[in-house]
Amino acid sequence: MLSNIALPLYLLLTSFIAKTTATEVDQIWFANVGFNGYYDIVEHVAGNSKCECYIMEDDHSYFEGSNAPLNEPLSVHFRGPLILHKFAYYTSDAFYADESSSSSSDWTRGAFYNDSDTSSASNVTFMTHEGDSSDCLGKAICYADDTGIGAADNATILTEDTLIKSDDEFIIFSNISCPDSSVYDTCGVYREGIPAYEGFYGDVKMFLFEFEAPTETQTNSSSFSAYDMPAIWLLNSKIPRQSQYPTNSNCSCWASGCGEFDIFEVLNGSTTGKFVSTFHTFQGVSNIETGLTQDAYIARETNSTMVGGVVFDTNGNTITFMTDSLTFDDSISASDILDIIKDNDDDESVKTLSSVSVTYTATSITGTTTSYKNEVANMYNSRLASIASFLLVLFNIL
Ligand SMILES: *[C@@H]1O[C@H](CO)[C@@H](O)[C@H](O)[C@H]1NC(C)=O
Ligand SMILES: *[C@@H]1O[C@H](CO)[C@@H](O)[C@H](O)[C@H]1NC(C)=O
Ligand SMILES: *[C@@H]1O[C@H](CO)[C@@H](O)[C@H](O)[C@H]1NC(C)=O
Ligand SMILES: *[C@@H]1O[C@H](CO)[C@@H](O)[C@H](O)[C@H]1NC(C)=O
Ligand SMILES: *[C@@H]1O[C@H](CO)[C@@H](O)[C@H](O)[C@H]1NC(C)=O
Ligand SMILES: *[C@@H]1O[C@H](CO)[C@@H](O)[C@H](O)[C@H]1NC(C)=O
Ligand SMILES: *[C@@H]1O[C@H](CO)[C@@H](O)[C@H](O)[C@H]1NC(C)=O
Ligand SMILES: *[C@@H]1O[C@H](CO)[C@@H](O)[C@H](O)[C@H]1NC(C)=O
Repeated sequence: MLSNIALPLYLLLTSFIAKTTATEVDQIWFANVGFNGYYDIVEHVAGNSKCECYIMEDDHSYFEGSNAPLNEPLSVHFRGPLILHKFAYYTSDAFYADESSSSSSDWTRGAFYNDSDTSSASNVTFMTHEGDSSDCLGKAICYADDTGIGAADNATILTEDTLIKSDDEFIIFSNISCPDSSVYDTCGVYREGIPAYEGFYGDVKMFLFEFEAPTETQTNSSSFSAYDMPAIWLLNSKIPRQSQYPTNSNCSCWASGCGEFDIFEVLNGSTTGKFVSTFHTFQGVSNIETGLTQDAYIARETNSTMVGGVVFDTNGNTITFMTDSLTFDDSISASDILDIIKDNDDDESVKTLSSVSVTYTATSITGTTTSYKNEVANMYNSRLASIASFLLVLFNIL
């Protein structure tokens, strides 16, 4: 038994140890998220044997403001072992995670999936990597069948309790069809022949999940690349439409920083009980592969259903959380979400991203871009646009 003197010392030591080793939390908060910068515009995506992918040399895609570049449309990705029971996407006119509820607006549901009532699915398109294969671009995305991992001819909703195993992945896009592939349109240039859907929009947005991540039952072997490493993450939706796993980094905008945020991810085989959150952008990060993560983790419960998600607020706060109580209603009050965030306060880890601003001279854009859509519109009006379209036509002919 500890003496009266030893007890405070013991508490001091354990709290010190807790801070220097990875801590289990219910909430992982990143502050000051979003910066002014740009990424490469992929001009041509062709998976031929030479693996020729081209980026625009004279122009870039510019972004700015809170949560940028993750304020651009995002696709939602799942890796097994995982069962997705519910998914929902919400937007809010304004939400301040660190202020009182009076300054925040309620959340409106913009997409929904409930595996025990598949007819209620709305604004979701399930896709998977079972399309055309190429050494250069990997497998193209296609509609997923009701198992999440097979190909379908048309948009199909996952059946109840669908378990995907280690390495298996599916993706959720919105149900809005993309305009034609083009550097000057909202979906950018994408791989030929895919059913192309838009990602989920919004500077201020929230994604919620009810899911299980049971222990993998297959035996581990070197044929797995992510054995017993479940994950739920977000990508700039241009990435999966172009190429999620290319051998030439020019084939997608990922390497130049168009954005990835890992919400709940097991990083390796020695930490299968730990979900971490990671930014893969260039905000204060030089190695985009490693990205920016926190030592703190959220526990992966292998025997029970977990409920949680991520909020991107108006001021550039990104909060990943797990909770006991959450509805997936078509509207959620600002105070309900603030209550969850505040309840987790004493069990959270916080990191502030560094303030960086990439300075650039926009060659084809007049004035400062105020939003992603404006930027596309501005580029469309520019003289360079017509020159580049001409080049694009040439690329397509060659
Ligand atoms: C990437 O694209 C640029 C610009 O189009 C080109 O100069 C470069 O050779 C490409 N790199 C690769 C590895 O294809
Ligand atoms: C997309 O989903 C919304 C909401 O469920 C629905 O109103 C709309 O008809 C759907 N659009 C298409 C093209 O399926
Ligand atoms: C949709 O795709 C599924 C799976 O590929 C197929 O069984 C079904 O017949 C298709 N339905 C339509 C209307 O094309
Ligand atoms: C479907 O999602 C898209 C992309 O975020 C959004 O613009 C649209 O409003 C959503 N549709 C509905 C019916 O909420
Ligand atoms: C949880 O599941 C694992 C296998 O996934 C099992 O070994 C363990 O005994 C279970 N724990 C509880 C508390 O049920
Ligand atoms: C595994 O991931 C954890 C974070 O969850 C990290 O701390 C550790 O260094 C990683 N180990 C290896 C061998 O990469
Ligand atoms: C699975 O095996 C790989 C080596 O092939 C190893 O790196 C990994 O840690 C193993 N995963 C688990 C959960 O044991
Ligand atoms: C999901 O579907 C089940 C079965 O119909 C229903 O009881 C439940 O209320 C639904 N959940 C939501 C959030 O709509």
